[in-house]
Amino acid sequence: MKRKEEVKHFFEQTDIYFNFDYNIKIRTETVAEMIVDEQFDNVLDMPCGNGVISLKNKKQFEKLTLVDFSESMIALAKKYAEQENANNISFTCGDIFDTNFQDEEFDLIISLGILAHIDDIDKFLNYIQSKVKKGGSIIIQNTNSDHFYSKLIRLYLGVRKLLGKDKYSLNKVPTSLVENSFKKAGFTCQKVFRYNQSFIGFSKLFSNTKKYKLTRKWFGKVGNNKNASLGSDYIYLFKKD
Ligand SMILES: C[S@@+](CC[C@H](N)C(=O)[O-])C[C@H]1O[C@@H](n2cnc3c(N)ncnc32)[C@H](O)[C@@H]1O
Repeated sequence: MKRKEEVKHFFEQTDIYFNFDYNIKIRTETVAEMIVDEQFDNVLDMPCGNGVISLKNKKQFEKLTLVDFSESMIALAKKYAEQENANNISFTCGDIFDTNFQDEEFDLIISLGILAHIDDIDKFLNYIQSKVKKGGSIIIQNTNSDHFYSKLIRLYLGVRKLLGKDKYSLNKVPTSLVENSFKKAGFTCQKVFRYNQSFIGFSKLFSNTKKYKLTRKWFGKVGNNKNASLGSDYIYLFKKD
């Protein structure tokens, strides 16, 4: 199977991914803490997964576009939007690079959990950077491959892959790649929140509620990010100058 199909296959099994739902809660709150009470006209969440992160923040978005190539994820996003009576939402089930926004520009793009999975990182970064208006923002997540905790995770995942439990390897993306790319494209980093989204092999020992509480206790939140240097996961808010 080609890597892209492996990724798609993995994310069609939504139950695997949603074992990590404490992390979705943290991402949702991080987006809320980063945008504070700002209102946005046109927002893109790509890839959206089950859509919860942007749909929970929808009251601050006039129009919201959700993109993901997993049919199961888009189905969950549609169900959640219906449940929440959310208006002015469009859904695209397809590859990020097949999206055609023509002249449309966004004032906020949310891209969480994609750099480890996408085929061409530079192409993806250039694409989202070009789709944001001047003065607009991008909230993007990256797991810093140079960080010691990330190296530990990689060791653990390497063993899982050897045992046939995982099919593909995650991309290695250092913070310097992300930060230099945004700097070169004329963006300024306004906020960053660092934490660890993985409990390595110990995940099953804790409930989602416990993992949420431990993460908050140890790392705090945006504006009060404790032990930041121990966090391999970065969520950035970049603003286009
Ligand atoms: C780790 S999840 C992140 C989802 C969501 N942003 C979140 O933080 O919960 C990665 C998502 O990217 C989607 N994805 C991966 N590669 C993609 C591509 N090339 N085009 C569209 N969606 C893609 C997967 O289907 C999956 O839902």
